[in-house]
Amino acid sequence: MKIKLRNWTMNDANGLVQVINNKKIHNNLRDGFPFPYTLDDARNYIEMTLESDTSKSFVYAIVNEQDTILGNIGVFRQENIHYRTAEMGYFIGEQYWGNGVATQAVLEICQKIFCATDIIRIFAEPFARNAASCRVLEKAGFSREGVLKMNAYKNGQFEDMCLYALINEL
Ligand SMILES: CC(C)(COP(=O)(O)OP(=O)(O)OC[C@H]1O[C@@H](n2cnc3c(N)ncnc32)[C@H](O)[C@@H]1OP(=O)(O)O)[C@@H](O)C(=O)NCCC(=O)NCCS
Repeated sequence: MKIKLRNWTMNDANGLVQVINNKKIHNNLRDGFPFPYTLDDARNYIEMTLESDTSKSFVYAIVNEQDTILGNIGVFRQENIHYRTAEMGYFIGEQYWGNGVATQAVLEICQKIFCATDIIRIFAEPFARNAASCRVLEKAGFSREGVLKMNAYKNGQFEDMCLYALINEL
């Protein structure tokens, strides 16, 4: 499946609800994406992405050739001495899983960020149990730097996370 990254627009709120309103997706994200996910949640999220500082926050809708929303991907610049590094997060609607969509989106956003900004390190921290996301990062060339023991408390349980990073070799 061929994909494209483009900016979110307010017209995408329905499409965003279609992909993210899924407990399996919610269980693998940070808290902040509620479940159930309403049209108002989608409108607020898109508004927030459109108003965010464009030197710190790079968030894109992932769409197919027909411009159908498949998912979301974002890279977020860190603060202080970490300002040349950024954290990445993403999700894909369940009906599109297993088609290489996330891997293509990760490859494309990393290329964009390394070409257009001074960020030199992009990292991601999937839950250790999230084999699909770990696989996406490995396929996109990220190195597994370690396991962060008991690094999160999600749905009433402590969770180990894996640390993956991609460095722009200057
Ligand atoms: C993780 C996620 C983004 C993957 O999206 P996707 O478009 O299906 O990813 P891709 O098709 O590019 O690659 C998925 C890979 O994981 C593999 N995979 C899927 N489920 C797996 C499992 N349970 N165990 C091991 N590998 C698995 C697939 O086989 C594929 O690898 P392959 O190409 O070698 O066969 C998607 O499942 C998702 O949105 N999950 C919920 C939210 C989430 O986890 N976000 C990431 C937070 S860090």
